[in-house]
Amino acid sequence: SFEQSLRPQSLSQYIGQDKVKSNLSVFIEAAKMRKEALDHVLLYGPPGLGKTTLAVVIANEMGVNVRTTSGPAIERPGDLAAILTSLEPGEVLFIDEIHRLPRAIEEVLYPAMEDYCLDIVIGKGPEARSVRLDLPPFTLVGATTRAGAVSAPLRDRFGVLCRLEYYNDEQLTDIVVRTADILDTEIEWNGAIEIAKRSRGTPRIANRLLRRVRDFAQVRADGVITLPLADEALGLLQVDKLGLDHIDHKLLRGIIDKFRGGPVGIDTIAASIGEESTTIEDVYEPYLLQIGFLQRTPRGRMVTHRVYEHFNLEVPNP
Ligand code: ADE
Repeated sequence: SFEQSLRPQSLSQYIGQDKVKSNLSVFIEAAKMRKEALDHVLLYGPPGLGKTTLAVVIANEMGVNVRTTSGPAIERPGDLAAILTSLEPGEVLFIDEIHRLPRAIEEVLYPAMEDYCLDIVIGKGPEARSVRLDLPPFTLVGATTRAGAVSAPLRDRFGVLCRLEYYNDEQLTDIVVRTADILDTEIEWNGAIEIAKRSRGTPRIANRLLRRVRDFAQVRADGVITLPLADEALGLLQVDKLGLDHIDHKLLRGIIDKFRGGPVGIDTIAASIGEESTTIEDVYEPYLLQIGFLQRTPRGRMVTHRVYEHFNLEVPNP
């Protein structure tokens, strides 16, 4: 589809994650030389960094199809069995949010990953017996925002572990320029840099902001994304100079205003600002930790002096 074509289709089109790309290219080439399925790959890291895109790229590079599903979508062992038995040899099965796979399903997955087989129980009670079913060789690509939430036995069955990192401003600028080109949108270099700088190291955010800024360029200007246009549009979108949005602000201001800057437990702060703890932990906190705005201590989360400076507040004395 058109949406799909925005995403890079090959490793050479994929910008950033250089270590992951160069390691994967070796494992892919080796598997192809041996005419084997690629070993199972676990992709982990904050949301929006390209895990799904990478799963598609891996399949393309292997020259096979990808089947996509997610942890919570697989409810019964039969759901997984139906998918696994319908794979063609060498295909990629992509399971997003793999940490949310029910335990009973995980146990079906272990022999499938290790020996390409399924143990199915037929019948009930004393009559029940187990039958082994052979599967085609396949590659499981699992993705998660929380490697720590993947059970150890499941994690141990992945031969390749890839941690995706936040992108730097140069890489995000290249991504914004590439996407603008595909969208047939004229963008000045400084405009692209501004969007990149305010995208929290995250391509998904960069591409979303690009589309919104492009709307302003089209309706309020001559269609060209310049630096002043991007700056004004991002201001109207309530994205601040560092790319922090309304929820980041609520979180940081909440810790300052209600808890004297912390330390405060994650559940306490979550309840006080009306957000889910897991959303804060998986989506908001990782970037704030990365830029040194938040600190984790044994007694909870604390804001740093940088947050007071960012909000033009007086830094309190300890
Ligand atoms: N679009 C979104 N993420 C991308 C990436 N990593 N490289 C190229 N284009 C992208």
